[in-house]
Amino acid sequence: MSLFATKSLAVLQEEASAEGQHTLKRALGAMNLTLLGIGAIIGAGIFVLTGTAAAQYAGPAVVVSFVVAGLGCLFAGLCYAEFAALVPIAGSAYTYGYATMGEFIAWIIGWDLILEYLFGAATVAVGWSGYFVAFLKELGVNLPASLTAAPLSVEGTHHIVRNAGGIINLPAVVLVALLTVLLVIGIKESARFNNLIVFVKVAIVLLVIGFGFAYVNAANWHPFLPANTGEYGHYGWSGIFRAAAVVFFAYIGFDAVSTTAQEARNPQRDMPIGILASLGICTVLYILMALVMTGLAHYSELNVPHPVYVAIAKAGPALQWLTYFVNVGAIAGLASVVLVMLMGQPRVFFSMARDGLLPPAFGKVHPRFQTPYITTIVTGVVAAVVAGLFPIGLLGELVSIGTLLAFVIVCAGVIVLRYKHPEIHRPFRTPFVPVVPLLGIAICGYMMRALPEDTWIRLLVWMAIGLVIYFSYGRTHSRVQNGNATAMAAD
Ligand code: ALA
Repeated sequence: MSLFATKSLAVLQEEASAEGQHTLKRALGAMNLTLLGIGAIIGAGIFVLTGTAAAQYAGPAVVVSFVVAGLGCLFAGLCYAEFAALVPIAGSAYTYGYATMGEFIAWIIGWDLILEYLFGAATVAVGWSGYFVAFLKELGVNLPASLTAAPLSVEGTHHIVRNAGGIINLPAVVLVALLTVLLVIGIKESARFNNLIVFVKVAIVLLVIGFGFAYVNAANWHPFLPANTGEYGHYGWSGIFRAAAVVFFAYIGFDAVSTTAQEARNPQRDMPIGILASLGICTVLYILMALVMTGLAHYSELNVPHPVYVAIAKAGPALQWLTYFVNVGAIAGLASVVLVMLMGQPRVFFSMARDGLLPPAFGKVHPRFQTPYITTIVTGVVAAVVAGLFPIGLLGELVSIGTLLAFVIVCAGVIVLRYKHPEIHRPFRTPFVPVVPLLGIAICGYMMRALPEDTWIRLLVWMAIGLVIYFSYGRTHSRVQNGNATAMAAD
């Protein structure tokens, strides 16, 4: 038995073309996929973290941080696109790892992706709860503080301690529960719901950019890059990179498109379109939005949980009407991020179960709804518990480091596969290999470095738990190890 046994591309492609009651439903076109990507991307990152990043690390140059993080994502996105078109299977980076670098690395990516999707859903649900509670307050409805706050908080960046005021973050739990029900019912219904929300949130982002520009006070852009205070990451160039690592969170999600590859009608063509179009559109929107926000308000005033609202309020009574829309946009927008994250995770579990690395129940498809309902429910329950108990800061950094690690491995995978199998037909080719994947590895690796040490320790602990599970279950049940990899494809 080899730790680095790979799953052959022929088997993967056979699985991708299997049809019937036990497979996922191919219902998504290029437009739906692009909207799914945008649904997953625009959320807590732009609505919450931009303000912190500008105020604490980069000033108005947070715009440059968005360019840096966007470039890292673009290079990684080009690598995802090659794989997603070549191996249109539900598991995303996990499956790509299995095809190129072997089972052990695949398990590491699969386990790591839980940090991105499951913890990502929980993180954004907590952000959503913050906006929702504030919105209710404006309407005169006051929820008790103990039911809207996590019972745990973090002291500095270190210890997890009890938060005396909180019992559970109930709105976050309820949101996750409702979206889980929607996801069990159907991929098409979920995509439709997502399309509607995406339309609303993109419209609101465009309104903020369009109307906001007219009220910009250009003096707020000077100095564009405040001088470094002498400490790494506090303004100056190091501040731009630290801010890039923070706003990277805003881009997470374009890769979630690849988890639905098995539900795309024409994945060879539409996967690259969905991934790259959603990423491109959001990059442009983010850069403009960051310019407007730092132009409306002085960057030092943006260190708040609702910076877009604060920036628009600076324009005075003329834009008062827009502040209401901003709240609605944030509430709807964050909900759709949670939806797509909750959709991605079960599909990764599904692929891992079909390979024998997780128990077979995880690979079951609902006979009527044709959704991976067991994994959807397991994901929903765990995400609801995490969202109910943990604070947003701790979760967000874990999500970023986990996602960056997946990006680095996918970039490396493209290079490995080009050398191992130069001959196979690739419907989409990452340009300038190995330059593009190497740049992806360098930029994403640098952003990982900019995250705090405690986040690294949490990542290592998480990975250690994963290894225990792999060696006690996955390794012995693996279909590839048992020479039984085609069995599922034929089911
Ligand atoms: N990109 C997603 C967000 O900003 C995760 O909420």
